[in-house]
Amino acid sequence: MYFGRIPRFSPSFAPVDAWAAARSLVTQPSDDAEVARFEGAFAAYIGARHAIMTPSARYAFYLLLQAMGIGEDDEVILPGLTYFAIPSIAVTAGVRPVFADVGRTTHVLDPAAFEAAIGPRTRAVVPTHLYGTPCDMDAILSIARARGIRVIEDCAQSTGARYRGRRVGSLGDAAYYTFGLTKNMTTLSGAMITTDDDAVAASCRAAIDATTHGGLGKAAKEAVTGLAMMFATHPLLYPWTLHPAIRAGNALGRDPIHEPFGEPEVLYTTLPASFQTSRPRAVQAAVGCEQLARIERFNGARRTNGARLDAALAGIPGVEVPTYPDGAEPIYMSFVVHHARRDAFMAALRRRGVDTTTGYMNDCSDHPLFPGFRRPCPEAARAKRDQVHLPVHPRMDEADVAHVARAVREAAAEVAA
Ligand SMILES: Cc1ncc(COP(=O)(O)O)c(C=O)c1O
Repeated sequence: MYFGRIPRFSPSFAPVDAWAAARSLVTQPSDDAEVARFEGAFAAYIGARHAIMTPSARYAFYLLLQAMGIGEDDEVILPGLTYFAIPSIAVTAGVRPVFADVGRTTHVLDPAAFEAAIGPRTRAVVPTHLYGTPCDMDAILSIARARGIRVIEDCAQSTGARYRGRRVGSLGDAAYYTFGLTKNMTTLSGAMITTDDDAVAASCRAAIDATTHGGLGKAAKEAVTGLAMMFATHPLLYPWTLHPAIRAGNALGRDPIHEPFGEPEVLYTTLPASFQTSRPRAVQAAVGCEQLARIERFNGARRTNGARLDAALAGIPGVEVPTYPDGAEPIYMSFVVHHARRDAFMAALRRRGVDTTTGYMNDCSDHPLFPGFRRPCPEAARAKRDQVHLPVHPRMDEADVAHVARAVREAAAEVAA
């Protein structure tokens, strides 16, 4: 089949959110009041005492390190498989990232590897609930509590996921989230901190209050991009437009989505000045409130699609499927499988109308940005090499999931032949 059927992702941004954004841009309500309304609703949703909106998750992480008094030459344990910006900002804060490996098919921090990485200067650990999969928090919390190590949950890809019935972000000492256009909920751009710790909250709040508001242009541009993404991935348009463009790029060894939307990986030598001038605006909070009202619907559809893929993809030769720690209730931000012949497998899927991506997570334990912090993380390295993100987004229905499962089966057989 030449035409496409299933895009790799579909934004949660919809006309109702564009309407909320437009209303806010026209009426210009108080930034403080609107952001406080969103923070209150978010704290209640997560089950945390405080929520503080921030411009980005990386800045949230920086503020949390400062609030906890973690600085020069202290060590923070991070999973090897993570987003480069988190170790990068740790280095900016003078903190030494110590990488620990992830589970082979869970993709999240392995508690045994975390324990083995602890040293005399370890001050915090960051369980990253990657791909919507909660970490093994019982094990991580018990190791951390026994040694007085602070636990900062990275919920950038898992807003709303639960672990033993509680939402991630309410389990450790503090947490951060992010709401870009490709996440399971969006505020156009923006992020959040949650914590039950009054002193940590007060420190982060004071730091954000000392920054200045950004202009409205960025939010307006993000809203237009969100609508464009919505149309480009619409079932009536996608097969004739975006999918053929991706296949044409693929034939030339390029990816027309991954390349323009990916962020260059950089090491921050100082805190970027833009962090101080991007205090969240009312328009972001207005969209956040709209999205929060629908997040259980988005996540429910992800869970249904993910569970169907779990069942349908078991036992296909050459395809290693994801697994989940005991007690984890994932929200399937991504459905990540491994294939040793990744490029051929992805091309065979695309020929069957299924678009996939290798994603943006890197093996930071063996990365040119962090030469002084190399540490063997074989599973992070393997994930970096072999991982393929299959579509699992809320716009897919049962027939779409069945199509993906059939395509995976056929592609795996074709590539093995
Ligand atoms: C796991 C993870 N952590 C942190 C971040 C950084 O978020 P932000 O871009 O808001 O700084 C991301 C971004 O996608 C992420 O996926």
